[in-house]
Amino acid sequence: MIDCHNQDSALNKIVKVSLSVVSEPTLLEEIIQEIEDKSSGPICSMFKALFKKNILTEFGMLNDFLACFFATKRISEITIYDASNLGVKCFFMPKNTMFPLHDHPNKVICTGVLYGKLKYLSLNKEEGGWYEMGKKGMAKVSDVLFSTQEIRNIHSLLAIEDSIILDIFMPNYADDDDSNSFKIIKKRKRSFKLEKYTVPKHKAN
Ligand SMILES: [Fe+2]
Repeated sequence: MIDCHNQDSALNKIVKVSLSVVSEPTLLEEIIQEIEDKSSGPICSMFKALFKKNILTEFGMLNDFLACFFATKRISEITIYDASNLGVKCFFMPKNTMFPLHDHPNKVICTGVLYGKLKYLSLNKEEGGWYEMGKKGMAKVSDVLFSTQEIRNIHSLLAIEDSIILDIFMPNYADDDDSNSFKIIKKRKRSFKLEKYTVPKHKAN
């Protein structure tokens, strides 16, 4: 029989920790400070530790169905938690699919890799409509990427292999939130000029 009440699962703890953070303004402010200071500090460490657990095995029988998620060559998603203060979603990204450059209205976004490998690029706001390179690299299983309104808010993800990510949105998207996507129209050294186009409903990760 499936146990629907496993309070000790890492996924459950991720939801609980996230709820504690969004429910307490000082904690939300603290994690923002931590992220803006090299993503180091006790709250970021707690998330990093939770993503070290093999969360995917907690989905149990889902393992048998993974091939289905990757068969379509399109990104699919499962909503794990959906409330006004917190959103947790799992995205299944077949190899070579991507979330192009997009931004977030959320105060904190935390992305953990559960499976596969992804190439990421994140940008920070600069003067005069330019954006500087925030961070780029490869994210593998158990890696966690943190963003705030100020740091790495605009980012892209490309699945190098069939990949699964877990996104935590603190607070969650509001019903009328749009998502902005961006195209790079100019580049100079480590800076980029972007063209923004709005996606009517949030489709990005
Ligand atoms: Fe994102």
